[in-house]
Amino acid sequence: MTTPRLSTDGLTVRFRLRGAVVHAVTDLSLTVQPGELLAVVGESGCGKSVLAHTLLGLLPRNATVSGRAVLDGNTELLTGRVSGVRGRRVGLVPQSPATALNPVRTGRRLLEETLRAHGRPRSDADGIAAAVGFDPADLDRYPHELSGGMAQRLCTALALAPDPSLLIADEPTTGLDRPLVDHTLDLLRRRCDTGNTVILITHDLTAAQRVADRVAVMYASRIVEEQPADALFAAPAHPYTAGLLDALPDRAFRAVPGHPPMLTALPAGCAFAPRCTRATDACATMPDLSGTARCHHPLVEQEVAA
Ligand SMILES: Nc1ncnc2c1ncn2[C@@H]1O[C@H](COP(=O)(O)OP(=O)(O)OP(=O)(O)O)[C@@H](O)[C@H]1O
Ligand code: SF4
Ligand SMILES: [Mg+2]
Repeated sequence: MTTPRLSTDGLTVRFRLRGAVVHAVTDLSLTVQPGELLAVVGESGCGKSVLAHTLLGLLPRNATVSGRAVLDGNTELLTGRVSGVRGRRVGLVPQSPATALNPVRTGRRLLEETLRAHGRPRSDADGIAAAVGFDPADLDRYPHELSGGMAQRLCTALALAPDPSLLIADEPTTGLDRPLVDHTLDLLRRRCDTGNTVILITHDLTAAQRVADRVAVMYASRIVEEQPADALFAAPAHPYTAGLLDALPDRAFRAVPGHPPMLTALPAGCAFAPRCTRATDACATMPDLSGTARCHHPLVEQEVAA
């Protein structure tokens, strides 16, 4: 059996605020193999970026973390010293590229410093920039001289420079036009095809469908469904996943009605219940993630087809 690139067990993150606790990530257990591209999808605020920051040891001081996350079967990410791991073995394309870039360094300087720190020649900078669709001639610009899409691509180049075996890409296609979106997605896919692992965090289900091997759907801090991508897009089991797919322009183009709950006041049972047409009294208790969906009344394939 291959050693998973990443496995998490019961990963839970809470933020302490004055008078409240934010349940940002709850009991999250997943396994990602070498060569796999896992997409993590879900509405704004469900905990996707907090998950990414947790795995990179980048949480603020008001956070408490429990559970486990193990890289390559030998490196604890939550309790070990992550400084030697971050960048080199686990890379992050951050969600907010503009704020992630050091404003007083040109793109070239940033990229060359990253390459040097990881023992790669500075002369690789142009090639890495070109690979992410960033014109090497623009590397001599400062971050404030870059468009949002250019800053995004520079961040992708910086994350790729150490050639991490696990890349967590948090909305890496924001601000890009469709050809560059596809270019970026295909680049991530190719990394996996050579044995690396990518976790792609995205709002864009079409992107997930294009490149993901598996998809994990998050709702209100928990994974509510996880399936191979083909199966999930053909036959979602969780009513929330079905709702997300219905919102796609080439499907019903109908948004999921209602809003996600506050993460400071989650119910004891299924957090989707107020928005769910299938809810019953049973849903007042928390369903397990048994099978593919965390749901007491999952959809069966015939219903999806109907
Ligand atoms: N430092 C913090 N202190 C308190 N709450 C926080 C902190 N950071 C994040 N949160 C909360 O944690 C929850 C999850 O946030 P997160 O950024 O992971 O959402 P997301 O799924 O990435 O959303 P989006 O799709 O908009 O990027 C949100 O309710 C957010 O307000
Ligand atoms: S557990 Fe109940 S409320 Fe939650 S998604 Fe399933 S049917 Fe809907
Ligand atoms: Mg986010």
